[in-house]
Amino acid sequence: MDSLTIRRPDDWHLHLRDGAMLTAVLPESARHFARALVMPNLVPPVVTGAEAAAYAARIRAALPPGAAFTPLMTLYLTGATDPADVAAAHAAGIVTAVKLYPAGATTNSASGVRDFDAVRPVLEAMAQAGVPLCVHGEVTDPAVDIFDREAVFLARVLEPLRRAVPGLRVVLEHVTTVEGLAYVRDGGPGIAATITAHHLAINRNAIFAGGIRPHAYCLPVAKREHHRAALVAAATSGDPRFFLGTDSAPHVDAAKEAACGCAGCFTAPLALPLVAEVFDRAGALDRLEGFVSRHGAAFYGLPPNPGTLSLRRGDPLRLPGRLATGAGPVTLFDPGFPLHWHVV
Ligand code: DOR
Ligand code: ZN
Repeated sequence: MDSLTIRRPDDWHLHLRDGAMLTAVLPESARHFARALVMPNLVPPVVTGAEAAAYAARIRAALPPGAAFTPLMTLYLTGATDPADVAAAHAAGIVTAVKLYPAGATTNSASGVRDFDAVRPVLEAMAQAGVPLCVHGEVTDPAVDIFDREAVFLARVLEPLRRAVPGLRVVLEHVTTVEGLAYVRDGGPGIAATITAHHLAINRNAIFAGGIRPHAYCLPVAKREHHRAALVAAATSGDPRFFLGTDSAPHVDAAKEAACGCAGCFTAPLALPLVAEVFDRAGALDRLEGFVSRHGAAFYGLPPNPGTLSLRRGDPLRLPGRLATGAGPVTLFDPGFPLHWHVV
């Protein structure tokens, strides 16, 4: 197969930031994706429906002329979140989902949840109103090895939470482990998972290849090769519970290439060619459309996008190493192998 036409894809987990960074990175996603679920971890975070509406307006204002791209907004769950505000923002079409960050788990998560029982009324209102909860699935307990934090989260936090609020629809974001995949497969209706492009491409060796590689560092951190292989198997399986959420997370190089570098891989310019390459290598190009354009929309109860996008196999893509932004340069994620799929 040398060319392929699919429904326009969606990115079900995206960091667009704000200000000069938003202006620079938004066109990179809008070029390929028709919709994206926009993460709320700004500083300060997007907590209320009014804040989400204002952020959506800033995103629309930053779109290049003629771009057809719809931001789907999320709220950042905190101990102070008002259940009625969440339900109203969802009913008004302002908000698509709510994001749970365990406090301290990742970038800008300081306002996240410390006491899972305290947010129970919000989760109950969400279950009632059919608002999905997007979960950053890692425990923050420093006694737990960083490579085990996802697996421990499933038993320690996610399973009790789902038992306490039956009917709550949950997306296990950026799943990275065999255990996470099994949890979703065995989880019954109402649970799904996003998989990133970079976790399909690299295992944890990439973070330490010949020296420390800050641009391969993200959270959840990449795991061993057998986990990466299981992610590819799940993504290419056709199982509708798995869909693309790139977690493209730009940071300026100065913040990544530092004594304490930020977590996040900036993949927006290459995410779609990279996923196509992975599916091609797996002999599963016929399932690409499901993973990038259909499964996520179905889970969120939205129709697939009306337009199409065509890909063509050709010479290796030549991407710039960096994107210039008003905030400083941002290095693109390097998958470590050539990408042959060009978006036409
Ligand atoms: O690598 C990551 N970067 N993981 C996250 O959960 C947050 C994200 C960010 O916002 O930079
Ligand atoms: Zn993220």
